[in-house]
Amino acid sequence: MCGIIGINSNKPVSATIINSLKKLEYRGYDSAGMATINNGLINEVKSEGRVENLEKNSLVQNMEGTIGIGHVRWATHGLPNSINAHPHSSQNVSVVHNGIIENSTILKKFLIGKGHKFKSQTDTEVIVHLITENLKTDNIVDSIKKTLKSLHGSFALGIIFKDQPDLIVGARRGSPLAVGYGPNENYLGSDSYALKSMTNKITYLNDGEFCIIKRDHVEFFSEEGTKINKKVLKLSSTEEKYDKGDYKHFMAKEIEEQPNTIKNGINEYLDMSNKDINIYNFPWKSNEITSITLIGCGTAYHSCLMAKYWFEEITSLDVNIDIASEFRYRKNRFKKDTLYVFVSQSGETADTYAALDLCKQSGVKTCAVVNVVESSIARDSEFVLPIHCGTEIGVASTKAFLGQILILYILALKLALWRKDIEKNNFNKKIDDLKKLPKLIEQTLLIDNKIQTISNTFNEAKGSMFLGRGFSYPIALEGALKLKELSYIHAEGYPAGEMKHGPLALIEEGMPVVVLAPRDNYYKKTISNMQEVIARGAKVLLITNKSKDEVISENIWETIEVESTNEDLLPFLLTIPLQKLAYYSALKKGYDIDKPRNLAKSVTVE
Ligand code: M6R
Repeated sequence: MCGIIGINSNKPVSATIINSLKKLEYRGYDSAGMATINNGLINEVKSEGRVENLEKNSLVQNMEGTIGIGHVRWATHGLPNSINAHPHSSQNVSVVHNGIIENSTILKKFLIGKGHKFKSQTDTEVIVHLITENLKTDNIVDSIKKTLKSLHGSFALGIIFKDQPDLIVGARRGSPLAVGYGPNENYLGSDSYALKSMTNKITYLNDGEFCIIKRDHVEFFSEEGTKINKKVLKLSSTEEKYDKGDYKHFMAKEIEEQPNTIKNGINEYLDMSNKDINIYNFPWKSNEITSITLIGCGTAYHSCLMAKYWFEEITSLDVNIDIASEFRYRKNRFKKDTLYVFVSQSGETADTYAALDLCKQSGVKTCAVVNVVESSIARDSEFVLPIHCGTEIGVASTKAFLGQILILYILALKLALWRKDIEKNNFNKKIDDLKKLPKLIEQTLLIDNKIQTISNTFNEAKGSMFLGRGFSYPIALEGALKLKELSYIHAEGYPAGEMKHGPLALIEEGMPVVVLAPRDNYYKKTISNMQEVIARGAKVLLITNKSKDEVISENIWETIEVESTNEDLLPFLLTIPLQKLAYYSALKKGYDIDKPRNLAKSVTVE
């Protein structure tokens, strides 16, 4: 994770670095820091915690210099404190880093042997001393080349030099890095998002490449140190203004934006007049695909699991799903007739990217379902299906989840139609139902008050469980993930039918258990499982959909009814109360909802 910014300008840079760091905070918020060169010296300022702490630091307010680097940290090596915050500097070199140096212990030993003194517990500091050491004998290009060769692991780097106060070096392996071009100034950033307020002209570095950023031009080098030419891309849109509006938190706003997320997806992909799905330029014929593998992390993985149920139900394709961090280290048998789909909000998740990279190396078909269309995963996939849900700031993914599952559902329908797995009448009916979904989400969003009260019980409990079957099982996992990441309450998502194989032993008097039992094919079975946990003392919050038939069960603690729709689409509606439950639990506990402890929005380390 971690966010990097670098600015080489003809005017003071500290205020712009702070603004860019605020944009990058979704990558980490354990600590922040910056360094500039002024009067022949490297000035370094670092603060524990948020960028606002750094901004308040009087040293930053008086910081001069027209060239500088900045960093927000998500700690990997060493505590999240100001000593371990980046930049790390020697007398001559200052470095910001995103990634992990796997051989840092060996390198540190070697450098200590050479007389270098270390101040922090980080892996990054070895890079500073290696460059300093190499500069004793080599010029900048050779010393960078040599240093990068010695590093094992992943990195995106921003480097400034006291003795070369007119340049910033950027380098990447594994972690993303972009260069931006402005009037009389040039930039380095972890991604285009950090640079968008300054420029829409961008070049992305590829793995192994490095660059020298001067005020008026940028030079690019291959891993071997040979000069290379790179394309300048023009980003499609200017900076999107996205603020909290009247909401207390981005998460609250993003939950409420979900009817629009679905509307945008529908407008983009559904051709209502012809009752068809617009997926243009799909690069493969339907008979070239016989199976599909969906890969993601966290919430995006839950989207994959959700999609598995739909693909299996609607199409005749074989469907596999995988957690990216597992996929990348398994002995995969890549198949030419499998479509590999990478699901990610940010499009920068390191494990998902690495899984994509493996697939590309094997020459198989790759497709990205992403929100950030300029992201690495989007750029490097053969085909992209954007989610179109707009910027998502809250670390807990909400609207991106609904956006992802919508696009995956639409893809399942389209493939089913192409392959003649679904009858046109049935397809048309599903399209009609889909069109009504935004309104149903809007209505379901009105359930606030009840959930606020219910959240108290979850906050007082030692732990909780979320149970579902079939289409509701992925949603149970997602509900549990939301609660634990926001409220720090132990929550476990489980298939309802699996309880008696062990987890039932956890149930004790008063334990809150969420049971997702919409009126679908699995309803009766799930209600039986619910009775089993009630019988053992659980306080059951039943989430079902509105129906003329009463729920036949005694001793249910609370019931929430979402709107009704066809079975395929109920998961969209069941998600809403779970997002709200997590939100209100965290709100009552007074936790930082948009930036939960220990987490970051974009996980760019493995
Ligand atoms: O950007 P991505 O969708 O690839 O991120 C994947 C996960 O890190 C992410 O969904 C994470 O699990 C969320 N914080 C969950 O709310």
